Amino acid sequence: MIKGGVAILDFGSQYTQLIARRVRELGVYCELLPGNCEWKEVEKLAPGAIVLAGSPYSVYQQGSPMPPDDVFSTKLPVLGICYGMQLLAHRTGGRVEGGHHREYGPASLNTRTSMLFDGIKTGQQAWMSHGDRVTQVPPGYTVVASTDLLPVAAMENTALKRFGVQFHPEVNHTVFGTALLRHFLFDIAGLRANWDMKYFSTVAKQYIRDELGENGKVILGLSGGVDSSVVAALLHSAVADRFVPIFVDNGLLRAGEREEVENTFKEHFRMDLVTVDGEDRFLSELAGVSDPEQKRKIIGRVFIELFEEAANSIPGVTHLAQGTLYPDVIESVSFRGPSATIKSHHNVGGLPERMNLKLLEPLRELFKDEVRELGTELGLSRRMVSRHPFPGPGLAVRILGPVTREDRDLLQKVDSVFIDYLREKGLYDEIWQAFSVLLPIRTVGVMGDERTYDRVVALRAVTSTDGMTADWYRMDPAHMAAVSSRIVNRVKGVSRIVYDISSKPPGTIEWE
Ligand code: XMP
Repeated sequence: MIKGGVAILDFGSQYTQLIARRVRELGVYCELLPGNCEWKEVEKLAPGAIVLAGSPYSVYQQGSPMPPDDVFSTKLPVLGICYGMQLLAHRTGGRVEGGHHREYGPASLNTRTSMLFDGIKTGQQAWMSHGDRVTQVPPGYTVVASTDLLPVAAMENTALKRFGVQFHPEVNHTVFGTALLRHFLFDIAGLRANWDMKYFSTVAKQYIRDELGENGKVILGLSGGVDSSVVAALLHSAVADRFVPIFVDNGLLRAGEREEVENTFKEHFRMDLVTVDGEDRFLSELAGVSDPEQKRKIIGRVFIELFEEAANSIPGVTHLAQGTLYPDVIESVSFRGPSATIKSHHNVGGLPERMNLKLLEPLRELFKDEVRELGTELGLSRRMVSRHPFPGPGLAVRILGPVTREDRDLLQKVDSVFIDYLREKGLYDEIWQAFSVLLPIRTVGVMGDERTYDRVVALRAVTSTDGMTADWYRMDPAHMAAVSSRIVNRVKGVSRIVYDISSKPPGTIEWE
């Protein structure tokens, strides 16, 4: 969909995504490609520069990922980072060796007068993480930086505009890293900073119109979460009269969520929102089921049935939109191959094939924070775009044991006291995800002169960057005390609150 910018070849380093983040933060579009892709994949992007990223491999190791040969003959500026620098050396007549000291951590970088370090002071801290090293630069290259331990920490070939750095400019510990990337992108490669969400929104709307053609019509499963909300706002802005969002209320949402979705999309944006009232159906199918996987399966199946029924009643539909984001795409195209963790819940269960619909994934180039920014650009409220993630099966996986309407009501009340408290105290945005879990036990308590035998609720708040790993949020005990008494005072039937102090791994974020 987008052309120009930077092609970043991914050889499996943990830092590769970070390079992409940095480049985009500088206002330059970029995409990751599997490092061993074919050159025509690179050409498709029509890039203005190429970055060869890091890798856990050694360049001389059998089976190490190798880029297409054209990378070494292209006229485009090339920046090799770590393994990428070693590739440049290894493949164009230099030498790479293992067996020296592994170097991990900060190092002071001595730079020479050069094209690459023009404007960057010598003696600043760079972040190292490597085993192998370049011991001889290829013909045409000069050494432009070193450290006390590493004679060749950077090299350049100014005629070919090819550069190699052994350190990682993308990590914050390389204090001049952003300045170096900026210099490479703008001064050396001559790129322009034209990537922002205003620009993306214009391109994406045109893409949507082109994809739909004259008569296309698109539907979307709107959940009220950030991703589908932003897709909805984008589609509405591109093709308002040919877009129908479908919102399935499964009765397992947070308190007030349906109203919030209807107010935003139907009242405020005036979309043709179709709301499916699925509460009775979901709750009756879930009755008596306590196994979490079973609950997920039932919810997934009923969701598809109801969604499909609603979709079938809309005439002339040609496309189904989904809120797939770039990290999901990266996982599936990475040179490591599709990962088992790809989120299947993004995909509305084979529906596109069954209904003969084409998939439309207008956010598949964006990172989460870009999606939030786009949402704001399209007029969604800050509250909407900064919401915590919420699982598709909703409160069903936060009510341990069988789900009943009474327990759902109870948990909704508890959760809204908890979340409102976090918002009120300004803590909500510090937390990746916060929620309450209703435990299937009762414990003894006293209230006034009465002995009680009431429910236990666990509060969970975690910090994370992607949900793949998470740490428990160190909530101030004063806040814990305040929120605990607020819940017990306001929600009848709960007498004990516990706070979850498990991280992921070994725990998961959700309890089921
Ligand atoms: P876990 O519990 O696996 O959660 O650490 C990681 C993230 O995924 C969300 N989650 C789900 N989302 N359907 C979803 O749409 C699910 O079945 C599901 N299970 C967990 C969870 O809320 C967290 O953000």
